[in-house]
Amino acid sequence: MVSSDEAFSGWLDALRTRELERLTFREIRKGVVALSRIYVEERGRLGKAVFDGAGKRAAFACFYTPLHFLLVRAIVLELGAESPPPGTVHDLGCGLGAAGAAWALAAGRSPFVVGVERQKWAAKEARRSFDTLSLEGRIVNKSIEQAPNAQRGDAVVAAFAVNELEEAARNTLLERLRKSRGVSVLIVEPIARRVHPWWTPWRAAFEERGGRADEWRFPVELPDWLAELDHASGLDHRELTGKSLFFPTSP
Ligand SMILES: C[S@@+](CC[C@H](N)C(=O)[O-])C[C@H]1O[C@@H](n2cnc3c(N)ncnc32)[C@H](O)[C@@H]1O
Repeated sequence: MVSSDEAFSGWLDALRTRELERLTFREIRKGVVALSRIYVEERGRLGKAVFDGAGKRAAFACFYTPLHFLLVRAIVLELGAESPPPGTVHDLGCGLGAAGAAWALAAGRSPFVVGVERQKWAAKEARRSFDTLSLEGRIVNKSIEQAPNAQRGDAVVAAFAVNELEEAARNTLLERLRKSRGVSVLIVEPIARRVHPWWTPWRAAFEERGGRADEWRFPVELPDWLAELDHASGLDHRELTGKSLFFPTSP
């Protein structure tokens, strides 16, 4: 069977090749710089600005998505969340499917993946990701509020997505997660200079359910393509960083 590393390499190759058919390295690099600026300085614009333009879409597809995959896979493995394998992984705000794919591949690829994504282009690309990775799954091109309910034995992941929700939607999601039974839940967000006010009540809710909050710094040797883009864009991803909230399957 193809290992999770081999599957990732094949997917990264496919993402890179597709973008290089449309854009030059320079154009993709400009997209990476623009996106990293939005992530760091203008998070309020995030939802609307990420996908508006070929350069930014390319940067998201063949740079940030693979980085998110590597980070989430490392977190899942560090938490031991790959075992027992979830029945279905629900990836909320899935973008191109990085987080759901990371969990499913870490778990030996048996989980079905449901990606919930409201943005049309990302939803279409997520479908392509699952096909390239030979993962069983489907995309729900709707908002997180309309996500199907997770069942006992399932997992829910939201990577870099909860922060993009309106406050009301975020509160509703927390209530849903709080009430879920027999489901494990992982939330991943960047380590930001300013802690967002919602993180504190979310953390308390997770800890109340026997969960944990962590900050992660994984040393990483990036594949050549990611390392080249990283360097050319003036970034430095020698470590993959992020913070997470997790509760394991509970009764
Ligand atoms: C920063 S991206 C992260 C994507 C992916 N989870 C990853 O780690 O690469 C956030 C994603 O959440 C999606 N999103 C934001 N709010 C959403 C909502 N209310 N319903 C569905 N998707 C949403 C955005 O369209 C975007 O694709």
